[in-house]
Amino acid sequence: MAVQPTPADKFTFGLWTIGYNGTDPFGGPTRPPLDTVHAVQKLAELGAYGLTFHDDDLFAFGSSDEVRQGEIDRLKGALEATGLKIPMVTTNLFSAPVFKDGGFTSNDRQVRRYALRKVLRNIDLAAELGAETFVMWGGREGAEYDAAKDVRSALSRYKEAVDLLSQYVLDKGYGIRFAIEPKPNEPRGDILLPTVGHALAFIETLEHPELAGVNPEVGHEQMAGLNFQAGIAQALYHGKLFHIDLNGQRSIKYDQDLAFGHGDLHNAFALVDLLENGGVLGGRPYDGPRHFDFKPSRTEDEQGVWEAAAANMTTYLLLKERAQAFRADPEVQETLERAKVAELAKPTLNEGETYEQLLGDRSAFEDFDTDAYLGGKGFGFVRLQQLATEHLLGAR
Ligand code: GCO
Ligand code: MN
Ligand code: MN
Repeated sequence: MAVQPTPADKFTFGLWTIGYNGTDPFGGPTRPPLDTVHAVQKLAELGAYGLTFHDDDLFAFGSSDEVRQGEIDRLKGALEATGLKIPMVTTNLFSAPVFKDGGFTSNDRQVRRYALRKVLRNIDLAAELGAETFVMWGGREGAEYDAAKDVRSALSRYKEAVDLLSQYVLDKGYGIRFAIEPKPNEPRGDILLPTVGHALAFIETLEHPELAGVNPEVGHEQMAGLNFQAGIAQALYHGKLFHIDLNGQRSIKYDQDLAFGHGDLHNAFALVDLLENGGVLGGRPYDGPRHFDFKPSRTEDEQGVWEAAAANMTTYLLLKERAQAFRADPEVQETLERAKVAELAKPTLNEGETYEQLLGDRSAFEDFDTDAYLGGKGFGFVRLQQLATEHLLGAR
């Protein structure tokens, strides 16, 4: 099936994803460096909407002002030539040795002050390039040993950092919001704000909670054994899905960063259905970029890198098409009805009903036939999942 992505699909890629050179803890690069201008041209050719980057992806850590500006200018030129956008920018607070115990939450106060300065500088660049989202992935914000990190102080320092950065964007009048990216572990033994739920709770403690949301990544939630689609639904429930990192992961193991859909395909199908069709409630609940944070496997050469990039978008569009067919299938609609899926949207109490009235309703308790649920009143959820599977396989 031919599916051609266009910028209207809002597909974006991290410069570090297509630029991944294959380095892992057991071996060095298997590919030469990828030039930024070439990367922008290729992404535009493939039909992407935009590019995202860490400061250190664009110009090496510690670059002189001149080198830094030179790379920014080259990027700007490529954006102008192709029309590609920069909807999100992020800062690397994890690669350089100075961040070995984290940035915002390093035990070393001087490192924390340096991290803030690095981020403030990159927020200026994000605003200059028109980015609306600033992602915070605190990969080194964590510990291996319990006694080494006072978690309550670390959370206070995290809050101090986000509060300061929020005040900065407000004072500068930048249209930027922050998206915290949870991850349970790797590179640290345990990372602070390990799941979507932890991050959502933390956000409520901030001075400007309205400026902070989440950037959940498929593989990160799955590394914690969690249901990604369900986590996204909860982030949407709280109005906090500010950005998303799409990729693939095969169960609880190291962070694989496979192409989107190359992991739990059923969950990817449900996710696309949620993002595009709003699930049972309908409507498009998320309008932001569909951002891919994946790594082309180190077995690939440059041709394989672009095939892998395209695979993310193709799979997303195929799942979108499959999800529409699923929703339009009369048998699916009947099965949804049998499963009472829409009935959950109906409030449990009647409008204005009090607990006294509920207590007085004999049909709710005294006369309610609970016996009918033994051997009867099945929901047909398995049938529903099979219909989803058949649509997923293109059998319907
Ligand atoms: C990872 C993370 C990163 C972040 C990136 C943006 O596991 O390495 O997913 O790729 O998404 O640093 O902040
Ligand atoms: Mn990842
Ligand atoms: Mn990510």
